[in-house]
Amino acid sequence: MKIKMPLMEAMLKYKQENIYPFHTPGHKGGRGVEQSLRSELGESVVMDVSLMSELDDIHEPETYIKEAQALAAQAYGSDACFWAVNGTSQAIHAMLMTALQPGEKVLLPRNAHRSVAGGLIIGGIEAVFMQPDYCGEFGINFQVQPKAVQAALEKDSSIKAVLLTSPNYYGVAADVEAIAKICHERKVVLLVDEAHGPHLGFSDLLPKSALQCGADACAQSTHKILGAMTQCSMLHVQGQRLSVERAADVMSLLTTTSPNYLLMASLDVARAQVEERGREMAEAAVLAAQKLRHICSRHAGLKLLTEADCGGLKLDVTKVTVNFAEWGYTGVEAGELLRQAGIAVELVDAQNVLFLVTYADVTKDYDVALEKIDAVLSRMEQCKRSKAQAERALEVPVTQMALPLREVFYGAKEAVALEESAGRICGEQVSFYPPGIPVLLPGEVITEEIIAYCTMMKGLGLPVSGPADGSLRTIRVVKR
Ligand SMILES: Cc1ncc(COP(=O)(O)O)c(C=O)c1O
Repeated sequence: MKIKMPLMEAMLKYKQENIYPFHTPGHKGGRGVEQSLRSELGESVVMDVSLMSELDDIHEPETYIKEAQALAAQAYGSDACFWAVNGTSQAIHAMLMTALQPGEKVLLPRNAHRSVAGGLIIGGIEAVFMQPDYCGEFGINFQVQPKAVQAALEKDSSIKAVLLTSPNYYGVAADVEAIAKICHERKVVLLVDEAHGPHLGFSDLLPKSALQCGADACAQSTHKILGAMTQCSMLHVQGQRLSVERAADVMSLLTTTSPNYLLMASLDVARAQVEERGREMAEAAVLAAQKLRHICSRHAGLKLLTEADCGGLKLDVTKVTVNFAEWGYTGVEAGELLRQAGIAVELVDAQNVLFLVTYADVTKDYDVALEKIDAVLSRMEQCKRSKAQAERALEVPVTQMALPLREVFYGAKEAVALEESAGRICGEQVSFYPPGIPVLLPGEVITEEIIAYCTMMKGLGLPVSGPADGSLRTIRVVKR
């Protein structure tokens, strides 16, 4: 049976009708698009249409989009799916605002992605933070443990929802099943930022999906791991604890009235791909990742993050984290050497390089890329330094929240020199991107340890994200 792609099919049909547009977009079916862009986009530009009446309206879906979103819900086993054309950031904002009223509390790991803080600000939601486990060997955070969730919920019975990031950037999945049970026994809603897991649930070779583990909602970056265009994500809702109607209202509130139909069509076709060959795609990604893992493991001293390192947690093995500490290189330096050889990686940090492998890594050029990686590693191995030269990975220092996030976001601020900011209340988000995990949130007290951490990260050459002063020589603090 042919897999249906309702929106994509409707768009192709519309294109064949060759209708002259007296409507938006202003480039009129590509006629007015500047030549250099036109030649790159090719025929696809003709499909950049904005036709809510003919091709359905994401704000009130009744035909193609309605059917396509229902097919996505079916493929993932949710009760309702909403397309997010402003990425998982939008889906996370919507998930929080669906589950919580202004003033209500959500329990979440302190290393949640910066978009979560955005959701708290927009929704007026109060955060109760938990510290995730830290793995000193790799210098990365793992997950929050079910016991920690249970203790936090017992301590504060006014918490209405828990939000997890699972799997995390490095592929380490939380024990979502156990946490869902703990939440649901207390009538607490479980939300999962599954930005890095839209491919889960289709094969036993990968951890179970959040929905399979009983989460009430999850936000997935279809664009990060599957075949949708960048910025295309999905929000899924299941069960009785959340209102699908409210989710629809919030998603509509947060969505442009001019969503790009090519982007939406890409969500439709990405869903069709996983529906038809989700298992095969997962297996192809695992196999491709195994090839890379095999190459790295031939270089003595390099450490690969495996499930055995994860203390009983499941690992998505398509995320290949390689630790260079034994060789005396930082992850940033290793990333630069790889880049010079034509390899761009997903993330670098103080000690690690993260290679993101997907179902698409099956072409001949993937094998060529593996050879290049092997050659770079061989050269680095020959020029090993002492381990003492490796950058010591530091856990993000913990600090206190002195004022509510939202109050600080809207309040008056002033810029001060970073090195003179200890003791002041931070007025902006400070992250190093990727992974985009806030080192400081608006409302948190800046400490000497945090200043030292930021200085170390800056020294490594990691890009700063969030502050008005991108060099982080100054930082905005709450005005006295
Ligand atoms: C854990 C996590 N959540 C959410 C997001 C936001 O996703 P998007 O870029 O699709 O808005 C990211 C992006 O890197 C992420 O890593």
